Amino acid sequence: MTLLDPTWTALLYLAAAACFILALKGLSSPKTARRGNLIGAFGALLAVVTVFLSVKLDNIPWILGAIVVGSGIAAPVARRVQMTQMPQLVALFNGVGGGAAALVALLELPHTDDSWVRLAIVFTLLVGAVSFAGSAVTFAKLQGLMTTRPVTFPGLPVLMALVLLAAVAVAVMVILGGSIGLAVVLLVLGLVAGVLLVLPVGGADVPIVISLLNAFTGLAVAASGLVLGNVLLLVAGTLVGASGTILTRAMAAAMGRSVAGIMFGAFKGGSTAGSTAVSERPVRSSSAEDVAVLLGYAQRVIIVPGYGLAVAQGQHTAAELASALESRGTEVDFAIHPVAGRMPGHMNVLLAEANVPYESLKEMGDINSEFKTADVALVVGANDVVNPAAKTTAGSPIYGMPILEVADARQVVFLKRSMRPGFAGIENDLLYEPQTTLLFGDAKDSLTKVLGAVKAL
Ligand code: TAP
Repeated sequence: MTLLDPTWTALLYLAAAACFILALKGLSSPKTARRGNLIGAFGALLAVVTVFLSVKLDNIPWILGAIVVGSGIAAPVARRVQMTQMPQLVALFNGVGGGAAALVALLELPHTDDSWVRLAIVFTLLVGAVSFAGSAVTFAKLQGLMTTRPVTFPGLPVLMALVLLAAVAVAVMVILGGSIGLAVVLLVLGLVAGVLLVLPVGGADVPIVISLLNAFTGLAVAASGLVLGNVLLLVAGTLVGASGTILTRAMAAAMGRSVAGIMFGAFKGGSTAGSTAVSERPVRSSSAEDVAVLLGYAQRVIIVPGYGLAVAQGQHTAAELASALESRGTEVDFAIHPVAGRMPGHMNVLLAEANVPYESLKEMGDINSEFKTADVALVVGANDVVNPAAKTTAGSPIYGMPILEVADARQVVFLKRSMRPGFAGIENDLLYEPQTTLLFGDAKDSLTKVLGAVKAL
């Protein structure tokens, strides 16, 4: 006996599915993202409660125990994580989702003789295991537990092909015979495939792989919806699969790369990480007071935020500097590169936190032609997204990525701590150009000093 009849269950699932769709809609703009997130979380809560009220569950204490342990780990981790570590966290949570879908499928295998359901089971097992293992390796790369450079070895493509062929053969046997032992073999083959898939991906491409694995998890969850006959899992998984695929393509396009090039580029020897050598060429460095004079008497300043601004947590000071310059009559905009920082929308989130008005955040396509009219481009903790090597150096790991055209501005000021390169590990020739000045130091400290000096002008 359950508390809800099937009609009510279906209606509540429909409401939860609507919440997920509204959540995605909300997440498409910084203004509505917070609300979208809450609507999505409410939809998930509604879905879980509906399951408890509509299904005759065994082992309720175990289920509640698992929920308490899972929430007890996830909530404090999510609260404490730094914004710059968000990709790792997403990789971790995503992997757990894929692994859970695979385990559910494994446990359902003994309960069915239907070949179609078994087909859904082997799909969930394989894709869920790939997603779990791939996400674990991605987490290790982003967390610095292993190199972020592509890891390849002779015979890797052949090994990968053999693993996939073996997986297909075992999957067919599981569909025909329903053997649990072979299903476990399939699970292991999926784990190996996940590791082999992600190892050769390196440098700036790693986060795109998270998004791709996210899409894989969505597909695995959708297939587990077929296995369990649960429409909501099917809908939620499909939404995750579709949005993950769209995000993967958008990020790859923003970096001027193809998804196939990212996944298999290293197989062809086209490494996606560059050298970290730093040249000995001279650069022009300056004091905070000099930079303040440059900014304070400029008519047009374009601020280019990057990963270093997030590390330094200098967004509030950057916003204050923009206001101080505006009150002196300077026109100030923030130029947002789609992959600046370490996650999609990173700079938008960062600057929204500091209450920078949305109208001051200009997308790359809109602002690029305006650098010509800028007196100063102030590059705060950004590097790869303004590196002209993306246009000039064929073979560079960022070659083909559209960049912010800061070199068109009359003066370029970089705020960074050293001559070290950015995420892609390659030198930036713009640092050595005659119109470029460097102010060395932590971005927040430098911004604070420049702000003080602007106010004193
Ligand atoms: P990066 O190229 O990584 O450059 C960051 C710069 O910030 C470095 O030059 C670093 O130089 C400086 N920096 C670091 N900490 C600092 C601090 N506390 N104060 C001042 N400067 C600091 O960043 P970007 O231009 O934003 O480009 C993003 C890169 O990450 C791209 O290659 C992109 O493909 C990749 N990526 C993007 C994403 C997404 S989706 N946004 C995800 C992962 C990776 P110093 O060490 O000398 O200070």
